[in-house]
Amino acid sequence: MATLEIDALEVRIGAAGLKVLEDVTLRVEPGEVLGIVGESGSGKSMLALAIMELLPGVARYAGGTLRWDGEDMIAAGPDAWRKRRGRDLAMIFQEPMTALNPVHRVGRQVEEVLVRRRGMSRDAARREAQALFQRVEIPRAAAMLDAYPHEMSGGMRQRVMIAMALATHARLLIADEPTTALDVTVQSQILGLLRDLRRDTGMSMLFITHDLGVIAEMADRVAVLYAGRVAETAPVREIFDSARHPYTRALLSAIPKTSGPRERLASIPGSVPALDAFPTGCRFAPRCAMRRDACDARAPRLRDATAGHAVACIEPFGYVSDEDGP
Ligand SMILES: Nc1ncnc2c1ncn2[C@@H]1O[C@H](COP(=O)(O)OP(=O)(O)O)[C@@H](O)[C@H]1O
Ligand SMILES: [Mg+2]
Repeated sequence: MATLEIDALEVRIGAAGLKVLEDVTLRVEPGEVLGIVGESGSGKSMLALAIMELLPGVARYAGGTLRWDGEDMIAAGPDAWRKRRGRDLAMIFQEPMTALNPVHRVGRQVEEVLVRRRGMSRDAARREAQALFQRVEIPRAAAMLDAYPHEMSGGMRQRVMIAMALATHARLLIADEPTTALDVTVQSQILGLLRDLRRDTGMSMLFITHDLGVIAEMADRVAVLYAGRVAETAPVREIFDSARHPYTRALLSAIPKTSGPRERLASIPGSVPALDAFPTGCRFAPRCAMRRDACDARAPRLRDATAGHAVACIEPFGYVSDEDGP
């Protein structure tokens, strides 16, 4: 059974009921890393918050289901969800400062989680917090337990957040752009750490990033999000070798080259439309090089191109001539 199974999820914002997520269908299997990729404004963070039941006040669930081990969470309600958050789910953000309490020492904050969620004594929690700091490769772990968040670098703060996620024994870690604010060297250290933890603990991850390079390093499968809808979902290798959605192809061609002379960072012309300016048809159509009249009729639904590879486009790459082979 999938750990997390989302089916036709819809989330709306404000009195006007603008759809920030629509017809989102995806699943995360036990031990799997599902990468979510898309430009800024695609709805990636909203999706993470919807899974945690931490939507901002203006947003509400408006359709579809979200199942944990088969349990329909939206129907089960806030109490059931709170239990899941305490037991099975953990989240790390781009800016760990927002989740850490600035007036408490970081060790104390990890201990708090261990005492409250795992019923440990203070002494045991202290020892476990130190072990967790070592586990996430914080140097001088014993001394660092006594540091305040502002005394640590961004990379070290993110390690504290990861230690906290481990403290809960979460089965699914939602990571929303966890390395975007970090410099390249620290970023690759944190990604390496997360890969090790995943291997050692078997936890699943929903790894959110705008960066396909990070997706290549982290994900087993990928869902490409565009303007609140899933454009394409496939195993990571197929996303890079035989992407079918024009948006995925555009993202791929916008990856900056790391070899050869340094080129200007390419980007896709235009930007993700605002919620009140979604086209009636395919939301990517206004920016799509392959656009045809039929694209404006309705938003295409996600359908299987091959087993495990689905695409929401009326005429995706490889569909007519199947040049990608079987
Ligand atoms: N609290 C909010 N109130 C109104 N609109 C919001 C709010 N948060 C996000 N949005 C809008 O929802 C869309 C998706 O945002 P977000 O999930 O943050 O995208 P991403 O994380 O992919 O950059 C954007 O159009 C954004 O402007
Ligand atoms: Mg975001």
